[in-house]
Amino acid sequence: MAVFYRGVTNTYPMAVKAEGMYVFDKTGKQYLDMCGGAAVSCLGHSHPRVVEALCQQIGTMAFAHTSFFSNEPQEQLAQALADKFGEPGAKVYFTSGGSEANEAALKLAWQYWRAKGQGTKKKIISRMHSYHGNTLGTLSASGNLPRRRVMDNVLIDWPRIPPCYAYRYRQDNESLDYYALRAANTLEAIIQTEGADTIAAFIVEPVVGASLGVVSSEPGYFKRIREICDTHHILLIADEIMCGSGRTGTYFAHEQDGFLPDIVTIAKGIAGGYQPLAATLARAKIHQTFIETGKGFDHGHTYVGHASACAAGLAVINTIDDEDLLQNVNAMGALLQEKLVSAFADHPHIGDIRGRGLFRGIEIVADKDSKAPFADEMKITGRLKQTAMKHGLMCYPGGGSVRDNLGSHILLAPPYIVQPDHIDQLVDKLGQVFAEILND
Ligand SMILES: Cc1ncc(COP(=O)(O)O)c(C=O)c1O
Repeated sequence: MAVFYRGVTNTYPMAVKAEGMYVFDKTGKQYLDMCGGAAVSCLGHSHPRVVEALCQQIGTMAFAHTSFFSNEPQEQLAQALADKFGEPGAKVYFTSGGSEANEAALKLAWQYWRAKGQGTKKKIISRMHSYHGNTLGTLSASGNLPRRRVMDNVLIDWPRIPPCYAYRYRQDNESLDYYALRAANTLEAIIQTEGADTIAAFIVEPVVGASLGVVSSEPGYFKRIREICDTHHILLIADEIMCGSGRTGTYFAHEQDGFLPDIVTIAKGIAGGYQPLAATLARAKIHQTFIETGKGFDHGHTYVGHASACAAGLAVINTIDDEDLLQNVNAMGALLQEKLVSAFADHPHIGDIRGRGLFRGIEIVADKDSKAPFADEMKITGRLKQTAMKHGLMCYPGGGSVRDNLGSHILLAPPYIVQPDHIDQLVDKLGQVFAEILND
């Protein structure tokens, strides 16, 4: 075996076929895909419309370097995304993955301020328990401790604030509104400490994915965050790599929080895994600054605006629209929540069941009253994944939601084509997994 596997001591079943809601391994075993890998496969597998569009594009012109040419799929997909954004004139920069999209967002922020003659604005504020990618820049801006740990001494040390995470951080005597405001105001406090003239941007996941297990903020939080960013001249970057592209029931997750970011990044569901693709959307004022100052945006990768990747993205977004799949995201999302609550809300180790659309999280605790997590040595997160796979279920367990390695959750992000029968299968399989792992 010559593969340098992502888990160097792990062995993996060999996936050979994938269709609709299922992935099949070489032995013929089928796995119900209730997490889209990592919230990627939003149309399920082998969707005929995407396969056909992709084959057609590859057969006509797979790639033409975008420093020489533009291409039709890139133009059309950019327009489709810009049309969905809440302000006219947004421009879209295509890359190959979420980390690249966020790296481009950070560079946009720096170069924007430099172009405006404010080159001291360099720091990127982020939130604890967030993940923005695995490049040095995006990992520096991430607050996910388990993922930072090995690289910590080489990362840039930027300021971080706590997330808006009412399940753990709201005080008993606090209303949700008051808590949302208190959480948002931590941004203003840190800006005052660091100095607004040193800060380029605040990056935030509107709905936190793998680091916390699907945590939305409380009403009012993002309105206040937007105000703070405007007052102190700081760009607001919404990282929707995981929660965007329709996952939460609106194409952009921030729509439900009623604010407009300056930069939005999407990946994963943008092309549903049919090709590696990501996008960084910038509001018109940012793009215009590069034109008006004559500074340009100094960045680029070989595969920026890749024609085949954009053709896959275009087929995915057109399918979501033509088949009105966001309606299914909302209906099945509500059903998923209802079924999870009726099956597991009374379980002694299920602390919280939450989320929006087809983006759901289940937080696992050792003790429901104190919300104490299981001890690290119990390796709950890893065992959840292995046991689910044994039962033919793909879900996405994660750890570190309390601190460092402590705290476990399961992230669910099924394809937008999911039906009630798949939800019943999920609940049944999860019940078996919990019975094996969480029985006292
Ligand atoms: C919110 C968020 N941002 C960024 C990334 C990085 O994306 P990628 O793994 O495609 O580089 C991820 C990946 O899981 C993510 O969930």
